[in-house]
Amino acid sequence: MTIQDFIPKPYSQTPESGSISFKAPSNIALVKYWGKYGEQLPKNASISFTLNNCATKTTLVYEKKSTDGFEFEVFLDGKREAGFEPKIQKFFERVALYLPFLNDYKFRIETSNSFPHSSGIASSASGMSALAMCLMSVEKSFSEAEITNSYFNQKASFLARLGSGSACRSIEGDLIVWGEHKNITGSSNYFGSKYPHSVHPNFKNYQDTILLVDKGEKQVSSTVGHDLMHEHPFAEQRFAQANANLDLLIPVLASGDLSKFIKIVESEALSLHAMMMTSRPYFILMKPNTLEIINRIWAFRKETNSKVCFTLDAGANVHVLYPESESETVQEFIQKELAQFCKNGEFINDHVGQGAIDLS
Ligand code: DP6
Repeated sequence: MTIQDFIPKPYSQTPESGSISFKAPSNIALVKYWGKYGEQLPKNASISFTLNNCATKTTLVYEKKSTDGFEFEVFLDGKREAGFEPKIQKFFERVALYLPFLNDYKFRIETSNSFPHSSGIASSASGMSALAMCLMSVEKSFSEAEITNSYFNQKASFLARLGSGSACRSIEGDLIVWGEHKNITGSSNYFGSKYPHSVHPNFKNYQDTILLVDKGEKQVSSTVGHDLMHEHPFAEQRFAQANANLDLLIPVLASGDLSKFIKIVESEALSLHAMMMTSRPYFILMKPNTLEIINRIWAFRKETNSKVCFTLDAGANVHVLYPESESETVQEFIQKELAQFCKNGEFINDHVGQGAIDLS
């Protein structure tokens, strides 16, 4: 696949108007993407579990127009959200070459998230992936030539990446790789794809409880964070480390060795935060309660032999990861010991899912 393959042939039909709806989930990276180059290309390969409950629903309504330039409006929960529009404008500019119909229609983008907007959970992965699925579906309905499922998903992921890097890992489930990696066949910097090697049943329906430690606006946007990797003294080592961690994960995913899994996943989370702490300017995105939770998880593991572990994204919230077989005991532990460190005691129970779905 090359970029050229994503430029469509002339459309066979272009209806006056239409509407399409998709739901797409968020994802949680085990090996993190942090640092990019060119047009949204990752500096290292990453891998994530696609989630199920944390999701965005998007309806795209389109109507032919004769004016020049992009025309669209974004609505969040029924209310106009002009704040999102610059990001969509930029996205449209990046993808126009691959979706020539963008110039010919006026769009109404209606979106809603399953998680509260103020939860501190980034909606860009699920939001951009839902929008990319809607756009791909419009293209499919305009095209004469058959669009296979695999091309559909690949191009949707390619488009989602141009909206937000990690969004390209939210099109399908359940374990998705993004970024060229020498030991992962089919991996690409341009789109996410299903992890192709064997995965032990221990990882089936893996659980992720998201502890909402800090629900405020992000202190550092991911765009700023990725940019800081350009001048970062440890950048090259970090990119090499991420690729090496993915290498280590391959036999662990196959054998189901959860002790080794924990070591890789927790180290990745802390390395990501170490990058932020050692950039210029530097940031601490963890809160005291983030550290409390991590220490409680470590103590619980020591006492009980549990295989529960944590990961973090670029914020203070903690993703608590555990196998389905431990659901009951870990849920009890979260209620008893960890919920007290969440804002208003709030957390979201999620688990691994299968990707975006058509709601039309
Ligand atoms: C820390 O995908 O939000 O969640 O490409 O600038 O939109 P942009 O960045 P984004 O970065 C997410 C980084 C991360 C790690 C990860 O999901 O791999």
